[in-house]
Amino acid sequence: MSMGVVGALIIHDPDDPYLNEYDEEIIVMLTDYHHTESEILLKKFLTPSSEGDEINGKNNFDCSQAPHVSKCVDNSGLAKFEFVSNKRYRLRIINTSAFSAFFFSIDKHEMEVIEVEGSYTKRNKIHRLPINVAQRYSVIVTVNQPVDNYIMRSEFQKKCMPDDAKKLSIVKAIVHYDGAPEDSAPKDVPWKDFLEECIDLKHETLQPLYEENLPKATKEMELTIAFHNDSSGVVRAFFNESSYVPDIKFPTLSRIFAGKANNLPRDRNAYIFDTPGEVVDITFITKDNYHGYF
Ligand SMILES: *[C@@H]1O[C@H](CO)[C@@H](O)[C@H](O)[C@H]1NC(C)=O
Ligand SMILES: *[C@@H]1O[C@H](CO)[C@@H](O)[C@H](O)[C@H]1NC(C)=O
Ligand SMILES: *[C@@H]1O[C@H](CO)[C@@H](O)[C@H](O)[C@H]1NC(C)=O
Repeated sequence: MSMGVVGALIIHDPDDPYLNEYDEEIIVMLTDYHHTESEILLKKFLTPSSEGDEINGKNNFDCSQAPHVSKCVDNSGLAKFEFVSNKRYRLRIINTSAFSAFFFSIDKHEMEVIEVEGSYTKRNKIHRLPINVAQRYSVIVTVNQPVDNYIMRSEFQKKCMPDDAKKLSIVKAIVHYDGAPEDSAPKDVPWKDFLEECIDLKHETLQPLYEENLPKATKEMELTIAFHNDSSGVVRAFFNESSYVPDIKFPTLSRIFAGKANNLPRDRNAYIFDTPGEVVDITFITKDNYHGYF
């Protein structure tokens, strides 16, 4: 998270096929908390030879590591989630972070993925969930362990972070079973399953619940995505070697509505499809390992 208003907007589906398979739902918002305001971060990020400044997420944070101007509070405590034995919870996990990818898990508890960004999946058991910026997943967790406190953890995927972020730690929260002691510190028993960093769950784990036949493409398009220095040494993102430049005075959509879609400058990165019913197959190509996700 860098700045702005934050909250979850959940649209409940009256036809949710899993509606009877969980008792309650809990929203888990993961984030990276930057102890510096985004205006400063962005300036820093857009300075030649800088990779930006990522610090830790919601957690017990040692403020001596935060910039002096930040309003950091030492050991502000961990988030706590209340579980009741034998209940089944649908966790809606939302990554609101600005830059960091995580592995999300709950010690000793399996999760079953049921939904990814509004699409239902077949129920598949996992132990650790890779989640990247802006992704949303639903998992069902069955409360079937001995009454106790457990650790919910969000581990930074360090391979897809800049070097100066590699010292980042694990973000933790407490899962407190109803009837367990309030203050006892949970044991650290992380799942050990190996997951490749910077990629999503395997396709076998993310199978759609409803099979849909893709319409045949009427058009194909290739776009190369890259992150690299521009001519002034600032790292930017590019689509086919063109980095988007907004025009605040005459934004792209206004131009299009004003009938001026034909002479948009190249750096507006606009591609026009104006045949009704057209199906475009877009292939994104990247050779960038560092930003493996796009
Ligand atoms: C980008 O620019 C910086 C500073 O000008 C330089 O140190 C760095 O090597 C450049 N990186 C690439 C990938 O060209
Ligand atoms: C969300 O994804 C972004 C981009 O990878 C990442 O920086 C951030 O930490 C992720 N947040 C969570 C909660 O997983
Ligand atoms: C983007 O670049 C690739 C490779 O040069 C090219 O094949 C493709 O047609 C370009 N895409 C568009 C939409 O111009």
